Amino acid sequence: MHAVILAGGSGTRLWPLSRLHQPKFLHPLSGSPMSLLQATVERVAPLAGPDQTVVVTGAAHAASVARQLTAVPEENILVEPSARDSCAAVGLAAALIARRSPEAIMGAFAADHLITNPARFVEVVREAVAGAERGLLMTIAIKPTRPETGYGYLACGDEVGPGPVRMVEAFTEKPAYEVAKRYVEDGNHLWNAGMFVWRVDAFLAELARQQPALHEGLCRVAAAWDEPDRDEVLSTTWPTLTKISVDYAVMEGAAAAGRVGTVPGDFGWTDVGDFQTLGDVLPGDSRGNVVVGGSGDKPGVLLRDTDRLVVVPQSGRLVAALGVENLVIVDTPDVVLVCARERSQEVKKLVDELKSRG
Ligand code: GDD
Ligand code: MG
Repeated sequence: MHAVILAGGSGTRLWPLSRLHQPKFLHPLSGSPMSLLQATVERVAPLAGPDQTVVVTGAAHAASVARQLTAVPEENILVEPSARDSCAAVGLAAALIARRSPEAIMGAFAADHLITNPARFVEVVREAVAGAERGLLMTIAIKPTRPETGYGYLACGDEVGPGPVRMVEAFTEKPAYEVAKRYVEDGNHLWNAGMFVWRVDAFLAELARQQPALHEGLCRVAAAWDEPDRDEVLSTTWPTLTKISVDYAVMEGAAAAGRVGTVPGDFGWTDVGDFQTLGDVLPGDSRGNVVVGGSGDKPGVLLRDTDRLVVVPQSGRLVAALGVENLVIVDTPDVVLVCARERSQEVKKLVDELKSRG
């Protein structure tokens, strides 16, 4: 199969670690020295080798991506002139793969997710591939733990096989809080993990049906990709592509048409959105202090009598703390953030304020 890794977005709730020029997928947030992006490529390696791995990223990050992924051929790093959201990103990869192998299976994976059981992840994706081979657009379903409004919800239908493949009766992207609450309580809705597995031709047919203009624009770009006029076609066509996520553009409508399936993703999944979440999922010391991105051999932190800290030492300086609890401390070369752990979501407000100051 082909693995398409989406490396876009900036992740403002992880400021000052995540910046416009240094988004979260380039950082080692996985509890190992590897960045989230590198960990994603390594995780899909048993399913897709470097030649079958494609990364879609923005022009601003292409050089960093290439530097981190030395095994992935340069032509497999697809550079978008500007961000047109996830439908254009996956669609571009699909249209390019379709030129040579329209019946190929493609998995689309976010570069910024944390997965604690990579072996199980591989098994689950193989189960999804079996569903994709019978023409379904496959999603991976996560058992919800809270009425999160930033996710998509899958209303699960009958088990149709092979294996644990079930139909998805409805796909609801980012519902209102009251709706999300109802979904979590009814026990029949699962979170969409934001990873998709499908036959390239099945996806492109749905894209053509639901988003004909976007489909046509992407086909034009793909046709010119290896031609001398690529840059010209990109510069005229790309900015006109509909800016919409694949969830809204394709998945909601495909589910309504009975073309979406799912398998349970019981592999320890987290969409790393903020420091609190990071602290919850990464292993800590006996008092719950979590040091993020440390390779273990660096004298990055000195903690005495502290509880439930999330410490991100990124400047090379020593970060020392004594007798404090429930704090996030992020030390980067030019910014130090100290924040109440339970208010991690609000870091975005600081970024907005800084932006408004110019
Ligand atoms: N290359 C590229 N270009 N990638 C992009 C772009 C773009 O313009 N826009 C988004 N992406 C990438 C992001 O980097 C991420 O890897 C993935 O596409 C999903 O985009 P997000 O913006 O993070 O989506 P989301 O988190 O709001 O929602 C999606 O993920 C949830 C789970 O984390 C949806 O699929 C939800 O249904 C899902 O629950
Ligand atoms: Mg996301």
